[in-house]
Amino acid sequence: MATLRFPSSFVIGSATASYQIEGGVHEGGRGPSIWDTFSHTPGRVENGDTGDVADDHYHRWQDDLDLMSELGLQAYRFSIAWPRIQPTGAGAPNQTGLDFYRGLVDGLLARGIAPVATLYHWDLPQALEDAGGWPERDTALRFAEYAAHVVEALGDRVHTWTTFNEPWCAAFLGYGNGMHAPGRADGAAALAAAHHMNLAHGLAVPEIRRLADPSAQVSITLNLHPTRELPSTPADESAEARRRVSAVGDRIFLSPLLRGHYDADLLDDTSGVTDWSFLHAGDEQLIHQPIDFLGVNYYSTSGVRFAAASGPERVGAWPGDPALEFVRLPGPYTDMGWNIDPGALEELLVSLHDQYPDVPLMITENGAAFPDVVERADGVARVEDSDRVDYLRAHFAAAHRAIERGVDLRGYLVWSFLDNFEWSFGFSKRFGIVRVDYDSQERIVKDSGRFVQRLIETRTLDVD
Ligand code: FCB
Repeated sequence: MATLRFPSSFVIGSATASYQIEGGVHEGGRGPSIWDTFSHTPGRVENGDTGDVADDHYHRWQDDLDLMSELGLQAYRFSIAWPRIQPTGAGAPNQTGLDFYRGLVDGLLARGIAPVATLYHWDLPQALEDAGGWPERDTALRFAEYAAHVVEALGDRVHTWTTFNEPWCAAFLGYGNGMHAPGRADGAAALAAAHHMNLAHGLAVPEIRRLADPSAQVSITLNLHPTRELPSTPADESAEARRRVSAVGDRIFLSPLLRGHYDADLLDDTSGVTDWSFLHAGDEQLIHQPIDFLGVNYYSTSGVRFAAASGPERVGAWPGDPALEFVRLPGPYTDMGWNIDPGALEELLVSLHDQYPDVPLMITENGAAFPDVVERADGVARVEDSDRVDYLRAHFAAAHRAIERGVDLRGYLVWSFLDNFEWSFGFSKRFGIVRVDYDSQERIVKDSGRFVQRLIETRTLDVD
């Protein structure tokens, strides 16, 4: 048994996203987003679930902030719903929408919790999708305008900004395999979408710097794709499969954002899918804006190899890579079917630090879904989610090892504060450290919530 101590500057908190928790989709002048349309389309989301009500956070946010305060969260990462600010994705901002987030931010500050605001966690105004969505360059320009409206209103009180959450998912699951909104399956559109999200980031960062407090920290959050070797795969095939995943899964964002150019192998791998004519002269310089830290979302790893016979271009999340196959790695697994591999978090952080030594890192999401059980004794409800506690303990320990190895890791935000709408899985997967009963909207702090509370209180973690 050892006791690990986290540096006092290391920020521990939790995260959510607008469409997953807010509900109130017709209130405060909010316009429809692609997730409203998608979730209301039969067959798209498990069980026909939608975010219409979700955690009803739109009405219960003050109680939710009190719970965060009870747990002692140091930071809370939330996202701003673009269609609350611009119901049709353009034009003057909707004051009621801005007021909602101003109230939330002031409530956080009053409780000593640092707001970490994400500008885009996937809820594109439907009107912009109707005009072509992210495969259209104009959407990037609209995003920069939206960002300016938000930062103009909140920039004096929010000091940490994130432009995008997981643009890989938004581009390649949204436009590549259609598993996420808007549900399109077109490899060329997915690549154009990825580029326009990069561009949108590059156009928004100077707006944020212009309008926010000078001390503001500006970032972007990526979900990278750590892969593991498969024992039965020849070394050269394995290396090639991993190179391809890193090109279209990770470096498509990392390289333009942090180095100022798309990599030649990415352009090559995808040349059969698109001619990249959406990439204009000067775009890569625009995308290459200094950031204050990189957000890393980490859950799991995958095994990759080439399928025996490579076929014609498949519609899917990996355009240009018809022969790529993802293989399930040995367990244990979470309820998502994702394998648990905390060692890969340490390796990912160390490898990012080695490649981009000047870029501080922050874990902006990490957590696990498990099928929790509520037990009631003497009128007191309890969720003994020891599997989630074990998952978090192992991943916090991995983060600690990364710090010891010299990684400039600024903090760790647990996904998620509340059980919520898990995209195409609807409400069937529970990631919260606080349980939500979707009928009564009762909140119950799970054992994992108490674990996070103790961690923040003591700054220490006991590990075997
Ligand atoms: C990430 C998303 C987040 C949540 C977790 C489980 O990909 O950013 O909204 O759904 O996965």
